[in-house]
Amino acid sequence: MEFSGFTKRWYCFWIVWGIALAGGLPAWGAALDGQAVSLIPYPSSLQMKEGVFPLARLTTVSFPKRWEVAGRVFMKDLSDREALKVVPARKHTALTVREKRLSRPEAYRLEIFPDRIVVETADDRGLHHALATLQQLILGAEGGNLPLLRIEDHPRYKHRGLMLDCSRHFWKISELKSTIDQMAFFKLNAIHLHLTDNQAWRLGMERYPQLARKGTFYADFPELSGNYYTPQELKDLVAYAAERGVEIIPEVDLPGHSLALLAGMPSLSCRGGEFEAYPEEEEYGKRKRVGENMLCIGNPALLSFVEELVDALCDIFPSPYIHLGGDEVSTSIWETCPKCMALYRANHWNDLHEIQDYFTRAVSRVVRSKGKTMMGWDEINERGAASPRDVLTIWRNDGAGQRQKALERNIPVVMCPKDPCYFDFGYARNPTRKLYAWDPIDDQVPVGKRSLVLGGQACLWTEFVTTQADVERMFYPRLCALAEVLWSEPDKRDWNDFKERLRAFYPVMRRLGIHYYEGDTLSDGWFEAEREHPALKCPAQVRTNIRAIRNYDPEYAFDGREDTFFASSFATGSGDYFEVELERPLRTDSVRVVCDDSKEFLDAAELQVSEDGHSFKKIADFDQTGASASFEAVELKAIRIVITGKNFRRLVIREIRLNGN
Ligand code: ACM
Repeated sequence: MEFSGFTKRWYCFWIVWGIALAGGLPAWGAALDGQAVSLIPYPSSLQMKEGVFPLARLTTVSFPKRWEVAGRVFMKDLSDREALKVVPARKHTALTVREKRLSRPEAYRLEIFPDRIVVETADDRGLHHALATLQQLILGAEGGNLPLLRIEDHPRYKHRGLMLDCSRHFWKISELKSTIDQMAFFKLNAIHLHLTDNQAWRLGMERYPQLARKGTFYADFPELSGNYYTPQELKDLVAYAAERGVEIIPEVDLPGHSLALLAGMPSLSCRGGEFEAYPEEEEYGKRKRVGENMLCIGNPALLSFVEELVDALCDIFPSPYIHLGGDEVSTSIWETCPKCMALYRANHWNDLHEIQDYFTRAVSRVVRSKGKTMMGWDEINERGAASPRDVLTIWRNDGAGQRQKALERNIPVVMCPKDPCYFDFGYARNPTRKLYAWDPIDDQVPVGKRSLVLGGQACLWTEFVTTQADVERMFYPRLCALAEVLWSEPDKRDWNDFKERLRAFYPVMRRLGIHYYEGDTLSDGWFEAEREHPALKCPAQVRTNIRAIRNYDPEYAFDGREDTFFASSFATGSGDYFEVELERPLRTDSVRVVCDDSKEFLDAAELQVSEDGHSFKKIADFDQTGASASFEAVELKAIRIVITGKNFRRLVIREIRLNGN
């Protein structure tokens, strides 16, 4: 499709849609009775009117000249999705987009009349959001008609995003584009790409081509090797995202998490020698020098490298933000490094962590000298090294303590606390309901500090996420809840209403090819391990050699509830077990183990039972649905889960159920 000829001659361009929308579309919401439409996120103001706009009438569209690219993207997205035939024309605009000064950033108006649709907005983002709303309305249209309505809409938070870990597993540019399309559809505007870590350095740099080559080379895994992004690919991706109203914030994680960087540049380490990145698929025992994944802060060449790195990032990414990591830094190598210790002594520090703080301040200055703002994980502010000119991504625990610490010093924050924003946890830990109840700002944030809370984001770490379909299942449906929390005012949010709208979106997501997790119960409560104590269902000993995440104790697997659960800290492997021994044998004719089937289940394990507590026999294998077996009733003394091989995921046991107890 070619627009340029038209735009030279006209201030607006005209497109005729060969629309075949009527029929074949999913019915959803209650659009036509004038009561409601299913939009996510819910708009600031929505007035329904009597009557309909037949979609067959939507044949022409005009955009102001400055938005012809956005218009083309919108048309393409719709025509790809709807298989519409798009042909140029010169008259009758059924959809008119106008520039109009509105009081808030990203705001738009959308009005549907019986014979036309009018969009008004002042900025690019507002246009994208208006078109996303229209897309949602079209995809949800019932009987080939849109309801008549007037929407006035703007977002609550400025930063509405997600972080995607591109290091632990690699996402092709085409997959990142799909993620960006989906974000735009739900009015999310910022994607934070975690481009480097111990497992891989994915950032191609013209000046240092060996960094990406060596930082993605795995001798044992040739099929996983060599996956990185060239600067040109990233620039194209930035442009693609910008056309959809999405900003890309790059992260290079320093000075920890740096094994893959050291593979290409060992001179930046404290001890020199050879380093290797390892893929998550590599056995623990074969991973080399894992504890030495820190950069040498005492080496003056480090800051020159950071400067070149920041230049390279500035060249690719127009975002005002550059994220330089700063999380999970250990001082153990620095303690043994003459250069780091010389720096330490020369500055008369008395806490080894001040070595990190020195680095934080120095790299923040580098970023600022390029006219940008540094972002960092909340650890950089542990001892106050971050400044009000930085931005923190707050991730630890529920985020409240770190947020307070930042706000006291007027440091802006983006909230992404593990609970509920870490989407690498399955839906047992962070279900959609928990997201919907969350807000980056709560009562603990003083009114005068609220403007420092820029927004929030989901974080998807991908150690155990290997396909785009799984990325999507980790995002959806809970990302929809987050999108609404970040967009809609609290008084517009209603869980029951959201649940209905979400259900109406499932057919739309299927139609758009978005994978989503179907098993989220959308129940009204959620489990907060730190607020409860496990109570066993009946007297028993629960034994395991699998390390639990703090508070997610083994006893939760045998407390008669499926909403509570045991959670392992690490992936499980051969030799691991989980056992329940009953104080008194119980007459039983079936056993069922329920794991978190969204992600944290067992691939290689068997279920065994014992009548005497000593000799066990296998009764079932595990799969995504857990394990279950029925048998002639016996007096059962013990149940054991035996891990028989490597499971490429953490484990959650929601419940071990014995019939009749
Ligand atoms: C993090 O999860 N280490 C930021």
